[in-house]
Amino acid sequence: MFGKSTQTLLKIPKTPPPPSPATTPPTAGAAPASPAQPATPAAKRPEASPNDQSEQWYDLKSRIHRKLVEQLDLTVLSQRNSQDVRDEVRVAVANLCQAENALLNVNDRQKLIEEILDETFGLGPLETLLTDPNISDILINGPKQVYIERKGKLQVSTVRFRDNGHLLHIIDKICSSVGRRCDEVTPMVDARLKDGSRVNAIIPPLAIDGPSLSIRRFGKDPITWDDYIKFKSVAPEMVTFLKACVHGALNVLVVGGTGSGKTTLLNNLSTFIPDTDRIVTIEDAAELQLRQPHVVRLESRPPNIEGKGRIAIRDLLINSLRMRPDRIVVGECRGPETLDMLQAMNTGHDGSMTTIHANSTRDAMQRVETMVMMAGFDLPVKAIRQQFASAIHLLVNSARLTGGPRKIMSITEVQGMEGEAVTMQEIFKFEQLGIDASGKAFGHFIATGLRPAFLDRLNSHGSKIDPAIFERRVLLTDKEE
Ligand SMILES: Nc1ncnc2c1ncn2[C@@H]1O[C@H](COP(=O)(O)OP(=O)(O)OP(=O)(O)O)[C@@H](O)[C@H]1O
Ligand SMILES: [Mg+2]
Repeated sequence: MFGKSTQTLLKIPKTPPPPSPATTPPTAGAAPASPAQPATPAAKRPEASPNDQSEQWYDLKSRIHRKLVEQLDLTVLSQRNSQDVRDEVRVAVANLCQAENALLNVNDRQKLIEEILDETFGLGPLETLLTDPNISDILINGPKQVYIERKGKLQVSTVRFRDNGHLLHIIDKICSSVGRRCDEVTPMVDARLKDGSRVNAIIPPLAIDGPSLSIRRFGKDPITWDDYIKFKSVAPEMVTFLKACVHGALNVLVVGGTGSGKTTLLNNLSTFIPDTDRIVTIEDAAELQLRQPHVVRLESRPPNIEGKGRIAIRDLLINSLRMRPDRIVVGECRGPETLDMLQAMNTGHDGSMTTIHANSTRDAMQRVETMVMMAGFDLPVKAIRQQFASAIHLLVNSARLTGGPRKIMSITEVQGMEGEAVTMQEIFKFEQLGIDASGKAFGHFIATGLRPAFLDRLNSHGSKIDPAIFERRVLLTDKEE
């Protein structure tokens, strides 16, 4: 363990210090502690049981943690390989545990050691959740209430933080790793974890019941079109159609509610952009993962502590127009940038894409109107609708249905204006037929029988779409699931 470096991490000799006065054992009837051994790192640790959250447990943990920090030579830490360091510190913690004379059974002892290591090297109680690849969202409402979403289902987790201070400390660790702060002056912060997960933290006094942390995770293996088909989130014919639409440089607006899969869909739609195009992506927190060779990624910037230096999506969008993009992909339009995006789409940046928060394609129009008006543009509603109708060719609506499944609910063509109204026609849709025994919504995808007016345009771009895919019929059903 020490072979790779002659420098030791500990300021004091590694022999265990004499036992301190007996502490109340957190677990009664426990076996005596065995001598310190470097435990094999637990591949997957069980979540803490509620018993583990007792004050004695926390006291013991913080006592050992404090002693460990006193012993560590921080100057050496940074120069060493992280696995070596973790192994060495694991031995030191085991020794400190023994010195504490705490009567712990083997499992509790192991759990205590891992928890202290998580506090020292990671994000404390969050680490257990972060090692589980099936968790897509972690939602923390104060120190004692942690929800997780696993395979589409929201459930309560047994993970807890000691108190507000403990949770704030973890938030601080997350924010400082990306050079931000979360304090009374800036009580709302967006950040990112090392693995790319998106984080939002909001603390008191804005969050009334304690610090709140929302983490959106992206699996190691991003969801692909094959997954969409495997999960029955879409019918294969619809993917063929979407591919032709993106390839044929239609402007696409992805529409969906919170966590409905908008960003995942935008990511997948962007895989159909030809390699020859110059793409500029604009986001608040970089989530898009474009594979094309010619991509410029831009990320907005929040204001600094004095409230200065903010660069909004809108500023980046305006700047991007001077960067000669073939296509602009904006992660999400939720404010005044909406009008700029429509204008960019109307002025020669065909093939651009973005997402908005709206529950259906019908609501999308309303939402765009509201965003443009709230941003203070004094435009008559008809003018906004005209901008919309001439900018957007296709709306794709994603939704999270009861029980968790994500579906592409609708692919809709924007046709134009009739009087004051924007006219649209739905080409494909998902019809929910019921809820199965496991509580999951089921239904089928159908082609509505309508053919899009832009079919010729797609064909002229080299996509030979078989008109049969538009014939009215059921394309795929997930009833038997
Ligand atoms: N078709 C799908 N099948 C299963 N899971 C999916 C699917 N699409 C997305 N997800 C998962 O759902 C979660 C939410 O996805 P995503 O971030 O794309 O949603 P969003 O609508 O952009 O959310 P937000 O409104 O918070 O930005 C992610 O964990 C993602 O992996
Ligand atoms: Mg999103």
